Amino acid sequence: MLIAIPDLLSADEVAQIRALIDAADWIDGNATSGPQSALAKRNEQLPEDGDTARRAGRMILEALGRSLLFFASALPLKIFPPLFNRYGEGHEFDTHVDNAIRLKRGTEFRMRSDLSITVFLEAPENYDGGELLVEDHYGVQRVKLAAGHAVVYPSSSLHRVTPITRGTRVASFFWLQSMIRDAEERRILFDLDRSVQRLTNDLGGKDRSVIELTGVYHNLLRRWADS
Ligand code: NI
Repeated sequence: MLIAIPDLLSADEVAQIRALIDAADWIDGNATSGPQSALAKRNEQLPEDGDTARRAGRMILEALGRSLLFFASALPLKIFPPLFNRYGEGHEFDTHVDNAIRLKRGTEFRMRSDLSITVFLEAPENYDGGELLVEDHYGVQRVKLAAGHAVVYPSSSLHRVTPITRGTRVASFFWLQSMIRDAEERRILFDLDRSVQRLTNDLGGKDRSVIELTGVYHNLLRRWADS
């Protein structure tokens, strides 16, 4: 399941993040790659441990913390500190799958990647190519969103970023471990959550069925969640 999170960042926040990261020194994107990815990847990245990535990443994490759609769809347990990449003309990231386990160098941080996130930081009309292609059971999904919008997709999927033929694609990318490991269970919870929200709006929070269904949601979460 792919979930688009529109307007995760305001235009002002995108501008602030871009001002920070555009002024920083970028390095070869293969700094974080395994050997298979290194063959597929041609882009630039901000140094993972740098002050700039940390400051810009904090803004993205704060925005995620405000997004009800992000929380309901991803049910995050651990989020990798956001990274940033930049693709100029001729850059691409060919078909690959994301590593299952992510460590943060020099720390105890360790997580399983269930979901991958891309936050778009450049207006789509400013570059050609640079689409994120995600293969799922329904075929190939093509994603190229407005600056400030995000997409959440399964880390288990084969995916790629198509070659840039004009301009520069700038994005933040990272992974999360969900409280709900199983994608089907996560989807059921998301669907139920949306229905309960809608019923709450229609019937009010004191309606007996709304209360019972809210209980069903939380009891399923209790059965399935790691915390
Ligand atoms: Ni990837």
